[in-house]
Amino acid sequence: MDIRKLSDTEQPPMELLLLADPSVLLVSQYLKRGECFVAVVDNEIVGEYVLLPTRPDTVEIVNIAVAEPEQGKGIGKQLVKHAIQNAALQGYKTIEIGTGNSGMSQLALYQKCGFRMTGIDRDFFIRHYSEPIFENGIQVVDMVRLSQDL
Ligand code: COA
Repeated sequence: MDIRKLSDTEQPPMELLLLADPSVLLVSQYLKRGECFVAVVDNEIVGEYVLLPTRPDTVEIVNIAVAEPEQGKGIGKQLVKHAIQNAALQGYKTIEIGTGNSGMSQLALYQKCGFRMTGIDRDFFIRHYSEPIFENGIQVVDMVRLSQDL
């Protein structure tokens, strides 16, 4: 598997981006300001993440997804580790990520990759999304914020 930056001439992998974030508007906004990296197997994009500078010295993984048939095979972990190394190489001091209150497996993955919880952005998903979102039978209302020093 190869992880590389999406080139300016390539179409962003919208199906994957929307798997992690159902808002077409938010996704297209942060794609303009961030960098999208893709995981490629046999010439097919099977995963992606988007790194977005948010504050001085700080970057955030604002979107990460692996194609459903390829989930659970370690690709997500490789993408998170790649994002951490990539951010460090670019000179950032802190990397952040957020996930919904219902994201049990995401919370496990991010903590296994060294992230620690820093706070809860209460009602984030109510403020930013017009439709209710459910995951694991739980409404996604609050965002759990995590970060790690680089
Ligand atoms: N308890 C403990 N560990 C858990 C767990 C649980 N309940 N659920 C998952 N994990 C661990 C796995 O064991 C694995 O760690 P390991 O390698 O040490 O065993 C790790 O979390 C995830 O494994 P991996 O196979 O690399 O993840 P993946 O390729 O399936 O990608 C996502 C993870 C989240 C990117 C993927 O499931 C996805 O695209 N989901 C839909 C989009 C999404 O929710 N994106 C995130 C938005 S915040």
